[in-house]
Amino acid sequence: MARAVWTVGSLRDWLCMCPEGAAVVLEIGPRGSRDFADLRSLTFADVVSIHGYATPAVVLHEAAEPVPPLAPFWRYYGGKYRAAPRYPKPLHPTIIEPFAGAAGYSLRYPERNVVLVEKYPIIAEIWRYLIAVRPSEVLRIPEVEHVDELPSWVPEGARYLVGFCMNAACTAPCRKLSVGAKRLRAMGRHFEGWCAARRERTASQVDAIKHWQILEGDYTIAPDIEATWFIDPPYQVAGKYYIHADVDYPALAAWCRTRHGQTMVCENAGATWLPFQPFASCKSGPARRVSEEVLWTHVDHPAPQQVVLWESTG
Ligand SMILES: C[S@@+](CC[C@H](N)C(=O)[O-])C[C@H]1O[C@@H](n2cnc3c(N)ncnc32)[C@H](O)[C@@H]1O
Repeated sequence: MARAVWTVGSLRDWLCMCPEGAAVVLEIGPRGSRDFADLRSLTFADVVSIHGYATPAVVLHEAAEPVPPLAPFWRYYGGKYRAAPRYPKPLHPTIIEPFAGAAGYSLRYPERNVVLVEKYPIIAEIWRYLIAVRPSEVLRIPEVEHVDELPSWVPEGARYLVGFCMNAACTAPCRKLSVGAKRLRAMGRHFEGWCAARRERTASQVDAIKHWQILEGDYTIAPDIEATWFIDPPYQVAGKYYIHADVDYPALAAWCRTRHGQTMVCENAGATWLPFQPFASCKSGPARRVSEEVLWTHVDHPAPQQVVLWESTG
C-alpha cells in the first residue's frame, strides 16, 4: 500500500481527482476504515451516513483513536458535562473552550487537542495541576474532610481541586465537606468529598489529558485557529454568581461570529446577544433544576486542507 497525500477544497474536488477504478482505503479516523472498490462511486451522502458528520473533509483529518469520555474532575456551577452529549459532536481535531470552567464538553472527547482558556486563576491553576501531575502523586493525597488537613507538600492546584470536591456545583472551592455531601455519603454515595473513590478516579484520568493546554486569561487570548469552539460564557441573566462574570456581550457576539471552523455558543432562554435557537431542557445542579438552554451554531465551509489516503498498489 502506498500512501498518497492530496490537498482538496471539497469532497467533490477530491472525488474528481481519484483515478477511475482506483481501489482505496479511505482513512476516516477513529471510527475505522472502509474499503471502496471505486472511489468515484463514493458520494457525499455515503460519507455523511458512514460518519454521521456534515463535513467529511474534516472527518478525514481525524487520526487519534477515540478514548472513552472522562468523568468530571469536579462538579462546577453551570458545568456542561451531563448535557455535553446533546450538543453537536466535534468536527475538528482541536476543541477550544474559551470559558473553560470544568470543561464538561472536552471531557467527552479527551483524545482531541483541547485548548482551555479560563480567567479565574483558581480554575486555571487546577487545570495546570491536573495536566502536569503524575497519577502516583494524586494517590498520595490523603482523604480529608477539611482542606486545612492536607499536608503542606500538597500543591496549590490540588488544594483548590479538593476544595471544589467538598461541595457540589459551587463557583469557588469550599474548605470543608458540606452537610449535603455528608448526608449523601451516609446514603452510600462513593464520590462525595475528597474520598478514596474520587482520588482513584482522578489519578486514573490525569494521563489522558497530558496533551491538553490551559491558558489563563480573557477568552480573547484563545488562538485564532480553525477548531471546534465550545463557547459557554457566564449566562447573560443567570451568570452573575461566577467570580468572573463581567462580560461585554455585544463584543463577545462579534468575537463568536469570527471564529473559524465549528462554533457552538451556549446560553439560557432569554439571552438576546446572538440569534439563539431553543435547544434543550436540561436538569442541573444538586437540586436538578430545569434550565431552558438555547444555542447558536455556525459551521464554516471546509477550507482547503490535506486529506490522507491509502492508495492500493496491488
Ligand atoms: C459557564 S462557566 C463554564 C462551564 C463549563 N462549560 C463547564 O462545563 O464546566 C463560565 C466560565 O467562564 C469563566 N470566565 C468568565 N469570564 C471570562 C472571560 N472573560 N474569559 C475567560 N473565562 C471567563 C468563568 O470563570 C467560568 O469558569
